[in-house]
Amino acid sequence: MRILFVCLGNICRSPSAEAVMRDLIEREGVEGFVIDSAGTGDWHVGKPADSRAIAAAADRGVTITSTARQVRPEDFSEFDLILAMDRANRDSLLAMEAADPGRVHLFRELAGEGELDVPDPYFGDDGGFGEVLDILERGSITVLDGLRN
Ligand code: 4NP
Repeated sequence: MRILFVCLGNICRSPSAEAVMRDLIEREGVEGFVIDSAGTGDWHVGKPADSRAIAAAADRGVTITSTARQVRPEDFSEFDLILAMDRANRDSLLAMEAADPGRVHLFRELAGEGELDVPDPYFGDDGGFGEVLDILERGSITVLDGLRN
């Protein structure tokens, strides 16, 4: 099972989601998963994650290691699940020529929470990053449970 998390810049939410899910999979000892993240935008390509995201995750024992990259056409064949952080990211993915709509889901919707966004913490204060991690930790447990059963 290959999962790609997608947000706008690939420096806040999707690198956090990638790290949280990888941490969960390692702690659960589940085999056979590939986890990655990417952004619909290209502004931050090649950069590490936002230092606030790295610090908030580190507070919870989760290490963010990603380098930002943009979504590419091959992602729609190389990943089984492409999980958008918000509805705008999902719509951007679906608008791509290479899009395979069957693989694209809104993360919180797949986590059974309805059509809700993971809020963008980039322009907010540090508390936003903790809120994002709460959503990601909770949602990842539900998503992984669903994939294992
Ligand atoms: P992300 O957050 O999509 O969670 O990585 C953002 C990062 C950068 C920008 C917006 C959101 N930006 O406008 O540069």
